[in-house]
Amino acid sequence: MKVLVTGGLGFIGSHTVVELQNKGFEVIIIDDCSNSDENVLEGIKAITGKKPLYEKIDLKEKHKVEDFFQCYQDVVGVIHFAASKAVGESVEKPLLYYENNIGTLVYILKELCKKNKASFIFSSSCTVYGQADKMPITEDAPIKVAESPYGNTKQMGEEIIADTCKVTPSLNAIALRYFNPMGAHPSGEIGELPIGVPQNLVPFITQTGIGLRDQLSVFGDDYPTPDGTCIRDYIYVVDLAKAHVIALERLLSGKNESNYEVFNVGTGTGSSVLEAIHSFEKVSGRKLNYKIVDRRPGDITTAYADTTKANKVLGWKAEYTLEEAMNYAWIWEQKIRD
Ligand code: UD1
Repeated sequence: MKVLVTGGLGFIGSHTVVELQNKGFEVIIIDDCSNSDENVLEGIKAITGKKPLYEKIDLKEKHKVEDFFQCYQDVVGVIHFAASKAVGESVEKPLLYYENNIGTLVYILKELCKKNKASFIFSSSCTVYGQADKMPITEDAPIKVAESPYGNTKQMGEEIIADTCKVTPSLNAIALRYFNPMGAHPSGEIGELPIGVPQNLVPFITQTGIGLRDQLSVFGDDYPTPDGTCIRDYIYVVDLAKAHVIALERLLSGKNESNYEVFNVGTGTGSSVLEAIHSFEKVSGRKLNYKIVDRRPGDITTAYADTTKANKVLGWKAEYTLEEAMNYAWIWEQKIRD
């Protein structure tokens, strides 16, 4: 069965392509390489023995999206990762985010609506909950006003899909709300490749550990948490990738309860910034140079998932701990700096 993975050369996308190929799916990747590298195809081949089909397409070019679906009429499912994801940049360039993340989503959905049956998996984010009132966060927690255009594109993306599904019984969709993805493939063949200075905690930790950065800034230690630093739910990227395959299989086999469903994808365990640092120090045997600085504007205090729905309904559960995921992130960092 042929599956389109947009953004399949990216961090989560590439790990998902591996899991799809391991399950026997034939994968076609669309990526514009705006934040990824074609060499990732070799990494995927090294792991699975098979290089996926690849089309370098900018999804903002509507006619190219139309041509693609015309050419590949046997695509049964789409996993849509392609999107811009830097929160700060989205504040500076809102229209870029609305065009990249919303425009392209609309073009793909329009094509899927033309099919007799289509399955669609959407990369959403726990950012839709903002600072939730209750922990752990369940899927029915209220959606808060978005803190950034990036966050808004995830909320709007979900609404666009829900509205489209309501009037399109042939379209089945699942939105996966990721908590904080991290780590790299155990083979060391694929992993996170942040361009420039990493905005996210784990790549900043590993780059500091290897000496590429002098010091990690810990954004605030005066939060109302046990050690004063923010708490997040760090989910191993291979666990997250597997959730996509299970979600797609659910739709393809018609086991979904409605034609639009939403699931949290996290571990259910919260870890503080200092705990993440200590986990790095343990797996690497190195002391990390870090300094407590002011809070980062827009950061929430705590977010971790209630994973009951994903466990029971989807039949998926995270298997790896923060420490195991950190170990793979560290192996990857050492390999790419070799
Ligand atoms: C952010 C986005 C989220 C997005 C995710 C994926 C928001 C509020 N959050 O999550 O939507 O899906 O990225 O990329 O929009 N930290 C440091 N020092 C650093 C970097 C981070 O102390 O150099 C701390 C942060 O303050 C935070 C934690 O580490 O407490 C995790 O930060 P980060 O990795 O940036 O993820 P989020 O902000 O949770």
